[in-house]
Amino acid sequence: MPRLTLPPSCINRVYRPHLENQDRYQVYFGGAGSGKSVFLATRCVLDVLQGRNYLIVRKVGRTLRSSCWNEIRKAIDRLGLSMLFHISKTENTITARNNGCQLLFAGLDDVEKIKSLTPQSGVLTDIWMEEATECAYEDFKQLDKRLRGESRHQKRFTFSFNPIYQRHWLYRQFFDCWQDGKRLCRGKNVTILKTTYLDNRFLTPDDRQALENEPDPYFYQVYTLGNWGVMGDVIFRNWEVQDLTETKAAWPLLLYGLDFGFATDPCAAVCCGLDRKNKRVYVFAELYEKGLINAHLANRLKDFCGHTPIVCDSAEPKSIRELRSLGICALPARKGKDSVLHGIQWLQGHRIVVDTGCAHLKEELSLYRWQQDREGHTLPIPMDKNNHLIDALRYALEHESNSRRATTAGKGELGL
Ligand SMILES: Nc1ncnc2c1ncn2[C@@H]1O[C@H](COP(=O)(O)OP(=O)(O)O)[C@@H](O)[C@H]1O
Ligand SMILES: [Mg+2]
Repeated sequence: MPRLTLPPSCINRVYRPHLENQDRYQVYFGGAGSGKSVFLATRCVLDVLQGRNYLIVRKVGRTLRSSCWNEIRKAIDRLGLSMLFHISKTENTITARNNGCQLLFAGLDDVEKIKSLTPQSGVLTDIWMEEATECAYEDFKQLDKRLRGESRHQKRFTFSFNPIYQRHWLYRQFFDCWQDGKRLCRGKNVTILKTTYLDNRFLTPDDRQALENEPDPYFYQVYTLGNWGVMGDVIFRNWEVQDLTETKAAWPLLLYGLDFGFATDPCAAVCCGLDRKNKRVYVFAELYEKGLINAHLANRLKDFCGHTPIVCDSAEPKSIRELRSLGICALPARKGKDSVLHGIQWLQGHRIVVDTGCAHLKEELSLYRWQQDREGHTLPIPMDKNNHLIDALRYALEHESNSRRATTAGKGELGL
């Protein structure tokens, strides 16, 4: 085996430890453009020189050429290793000249081919299932059986995909050990690594911007944030992301809201504006920080809202008093019966336009969901998670939403 000096700069940092990962099942999932495919293609190239044989699969065979095959060829070039490989387009194989080990490619739509494919020397040590969410559970089960036989290498099955749908078999099969908010999880023989475009320093500014400005909440959640897609029970779908710098500069009346938090929950504040006529709520800015004592919070708020009133969670009257004594015009929210549900419904009746800079609010809006009962039915109770800035937004707009309530309340509510 020739000695390879791999410049560390050619692999995104987050993936580097996984060049040597020996777990049987390896799941690389997350947002688009996060470098998953390029990393795995690079790893194949290095592995085959070390005596591993790969089968690389996708659901549809003809899509392999434009994806894995190309990425692997580019990786070979990038590493300056083309003299070490024999590439046969007609046979769809890439063979290492030093040891005869191979990268084989096949679509799961060609069952006969899959069955017959074997490397020219040794056994199959690796399977990489690219865009694995396209593939069926049965495909995985069948292929998993192919990973057997004598080899000095640990057998590995590697998956890469965007997390399009949480009820997917991949989730059921591998995600027992997974905790939301984590990026890496290691179970028994399983590694799961979640990455997003932020982990890929090779991405162009244009690609980055396209992901950050994704207007569709579902796509934003899956392809920008790399979170498991939940179509069913997300509370807000009526939002989009825009650069609001100019809108804010011209906006006549800014409204502010604040939700207190300290150690586990953040202190969360928003600056927004209401366009009554067009039923639009603009969120211009957010403040989101853990561990702020009230004196520091007051300092932040001086920059954030100056002397403009800010409507705060009334569960902390002492904090409100303190902020007032520190020069902030903090007012308690009125809340009242069913104020959470009412506020949510009111917001659902508007288009929420979020400034590109409000990273946490975008995340909350894409994650905030209804609770489910044991059978998986959606309940009209929001989960008390991912709601800090959303609560602040409700407080900021409380006056507006309550005045509407008075005019639109049903007969029952008015006691008629
Ligand atoms: N190690 C790398 N070296 C050079 N470019 C890279 C590297 N990793 C990622 N890229 C660039 O980033 C783009 C997106 O990466 P990709 O692996 O396709 O993301 P994903 O598979 O997560 O959607 C690639 O098309 C490539 O231009
Ligand atoms: Mg990819």
